[in-house]
Amino acid sequence: MTMGAQPRPGASAPGPSGASGTSAASATGLLAAIADVGVDRVRGGYSRHGFDRAELALREWFVAESRARGLDVEVDRNGNLWAWWGKPGPNALITGSHLDSVPGGGAFDGPLGVVSALAAVDLLRARGFVPSRPFAVVVFAEEEGGRFGVPCLGSRLLAGTIDADTARRLRDPEGTTLADAMRKAGLAPERLGRDEESLSRIGCFVELHVEQGRGLIDLGRPVGVASSILAHGRWRFQFTGEGNHAGATPITDRHDPMLPASQLVLAARRAAAAAVGSRATIGRIVPVPGGTNVIASTVDCWLDARASDDATTRSLVTEIEAAARDAAAAEGCRLEVTEESYGDTVIFDPALRDELAGLLDDAPALPTGAGHDAGVLASQVPTAMLFVRNPTGVSHAPAEHAEPDDCEAGVAALAKVLEHLAGSER
Ligand code: GLV
Ligand code: MN
Ligand code: MN
Repeated sequence: MTMGAQPRPGASAPGPSGASGTSAASATGLLAAIADVGVDRVRGGYSRHGFDRAELALREWFVAESRARGLDVEVDRNGNLWAWWGKPGPNALITGSHLDSVPGGGAFDGPLGVVSALAAVDLLRARGFVPSRPFAVVVFAEEEGGRFGVPCLGSRLLAGTIDADTARRLRDPEGTTLADAMRKAGLAPERLGRDEESLSRIGCFVELHVEQGRGLIDLGRPVGVASSILAHGRWRFQFTGEGNHAGATPITDRHDPMLPASQLVLAARRAAAAAVGSRATIGRIVPVPGGTNVIASTVDCWLDARASDDATTRSLVTEIEAAARDAAAAEGCRLEVTEESYGDTVIFDPALRDELAGLLDDAPALPTGAGHDAGVLASQVPTAMLFVRNPTGVSHAPAEHAEPDDCEAGVAALAKVLEHLAGSER
């Protein structure tokens, strides 16, 4: 489906930078153009979630920027955007990332990969480069799972690693389903699902991303390549107790689900600390009804657990769940645990990784604990990632950063990689 360009009601997409193929945009200039979109005045940072007002405005902006460069934008069955430089076709070279954020996230996670892809197109064009194979910039939908709970939703749907009916029924915190949100955005959720046509066109995918750690700072290098991603998943722990009055209910008469919920937080830390390199986090807790003078009737907690491999991740979750079940029983509460998403360890194609590292002056290869659309695609097509130094080492928070010079080093590296891959068999 070719993308309609009509601005949606209430969405205020910034205008295109005016890049016309003769003037190259900088990554920082492009980021500056979207700096006002999705600012979260309550949490700080940005809240841009799949198909919400802010993300739709960013998608409109991306379409306008792509058109200003003469790229033809298509939206696929799963809501991912593809901006083609030349005719779409097989064995395509694809680069890009996502535009959504976590709640109160930074400006770089996702958008840096998208703006760097556009800036790399400008740079290549200014050098007179014409792609010798199909070439597109992609924007994946709802990578963070910040609205519908499942990360890398657009790429998982594309690859068919999430069932389409399950995806359609996902709900945001207000109860809106993914199907309704997509319909409201002018998309057709009945078409969700593994997209053979789009998948079979991808010859090779390269995602540039801000580094989410301190590897490049410690090595004194602006750009690196990715080696692996931890196995990771999300589990919902729902504790059910008895809602009651905070003043009138004696301590001995309570079935307060907040008690086992707090034990879950401690168990997650304890279990992850005991398994070297593992991570376990409770980043979201929702008590119902959520009143200061009310003992909650239910508490929902979300566990994010990650480790080097599948077995270690599974045993980490088993240990945490056992502790949570004991704590629930001790308080007379019930516990229901649901796995909401999971992805096994990703080892990026070692030959491609080494080839790109060599091309980039022996750029260091770094593992990451963060998930990416590139991690989902790695099981389907040759895939690589470039990381750009983050001087704070912080991510998923407003302090996430990349210096302008490092962003431009990232664009130059991406352009070099794309130019190289355009002439290769990969
Ligand atoms: C996404 O960035 C994740 O790692 O959850
Ligand atoms: Mn992220
Ligand atoms: Mn990201």
